[in-house]
Amino acid sequence: MDFYEVLNKRQSIRSYKSDPVPQEALDKMAESLQVAPSACNLQPWSFRVVTNEKMKAEICAAYGGKWLAEAPAIIVALGNDETCWKRPEGTPIVDIDMGIAMEHVVLAATAEGLGTCWICAYKQVEMNRATNIMSPWSVLAISPLGYPNVVPEQKPRKLLDEIFKVIT
Ligand SMILES: Cc1cc2nc3c(=O)[nH]c(=O)nc-3n(C[C@H](O)[C@H](O)[C@H](O)COP(=O)(O)O)c2cc1C
Repeated sequence: MDFYEVLNKRQSIRSYKSDPVPQEALDKMAESLQVAPSACNLQPWSFRVVTNEKMKAEICAAYGGKWLAEAPAIIVALGNDETCWKRPEGTPIVDIDMGIAMEHVVLAATAEGLGTCWICAYKQVEMNRATNIMSPWSVLAISPLGYPNVVPEQKPRKLLDEIFKVIT
């Protein structure tokens, strides 16, 4: 798949086959994470891929969406708001850094034929507890990982004129 095919193929997948994720695909995802850019190259992230059934069940309980349990693995994206770069007024930039890193991993998974779905709609304290994560780390996003069972229709997008302008 070329880069633009990968971009167009990525969709949020909410139905999964039970087949396990091959190690080769995990290796590609890890390599894609390693080359992600971050402010001052501080790389304030750490990623886990959870296949442990007990921890998966705790993550699913913390999220609340039953469909997540179908996936054979769950990506857990951690950010560190102490080691990340901060804006001059002191605001941590970890959400941007982690977002870029997560999308690298998501696109690599897509290129490997795997499905993902960004998930942030959970209570962070509960998700940190479910994954044994402690401050200054926290779970900034999770995603199911596995082979898609159902691929939905592409979601509509805003018109290009509205979202992308060249100012000369
Ligand atoms: C930062 C972020 C958080 C999201 N959180 C959730 C979530 O908690 N639950 C969920 O089902 N989808 C979540 N999504 C998926 C979006 O709903 C989805 O990306 C959007 O509707 C566009 O659809 P597509 O990904 O299939 O193109 C999230 C996406 C992003 C980028």
